[in-house]
Amino acid sequence: MAADRPDPRLYADARRLLVEPSVLSADFTQLGEECRRSLAAGGDAIHFDVMDGHFVPNLSMGPAVCAAVRRAAPGAFIDTHLMCTDPGAFVEAFARAGTNHVSFHVEAVPHPRGLIRRIRALGMAVGCALNPATPADAVGEWIDELDSVLVMSVHPGYSGQSFIPEVLAKVPALRARMRPEQRIAIDGGVSPATAPACRAAGCDVLVAASAIFGAPDMAAAIHAIRGE
Ligand code: DX5
Ligand code: ZN
Repeated sequence: MAADRPDPRLYADARRLLVEPSVLSADFTQLGEECRRSLAAGGDAIHFDVMDGHFVPNLSMGPAVCAAVRRAAPGAFIDTHLMCTDPGAFVEAFARAGTNHVSFHVEAVPHPRGLIRRIRALGMAVGCALNPATPADAVGEWIDELDSVLVMSVHPGYSGQSFIPEVLAKVPALRARMRPEQRIAIDGGVSPATAPACRAAGCDVLVAASAIFGAPDMAAAIHAIRGE
């Protein structure tokens, strides 16, 4: 991968399990350094959590902060998770800010074919996220048009919550409907303790905030989550 450009094939290389540090638990006073530190410790991509105070009861970061991450880590693959009631209102801004892959929530956009095409036309890969209570079949036939499905294993809004193991039952049901190169991500409460069950269920993108940024040895935490 070129040092100054993200690798657009990252999600397409399905042979590789991806670990995504979520900067929601980073030290925001050192955000650029925290991004570089998590990539140097073995993170494959930066997970960038966007909360609008409406779809979830919290506010986090917007396009200007994403652009700062892009400047701090020009070679990083940025995966933006839009926990927003109207994700379509923000996709152009996140494309300009340097996002490579963007996930919207199916609860917010139950008929997303138009949104999926808009995201793709902006040059980004696209995923659909499901809250813990949302069944796998909420993802319609348009599952074919996605690069990934993100299964939430906590109720979105905050880092540091406990993993909800019941959501893993959705993973084989989704996998049965997906091509091998389409990815299944898991997000929320992922740690060295919970990652083995996620990997065994078939998840191939593991997102973690507190278990990575709160670890005394970040590289060891990332290796453990990856199962190395
Ligand atoms: C939750 C976010 C997650 C969060 C995960 O609303 O979507 O990405 O950062 O945090 P941990 O890994 O601490 O549960
Ligand atoms: Zn997230």
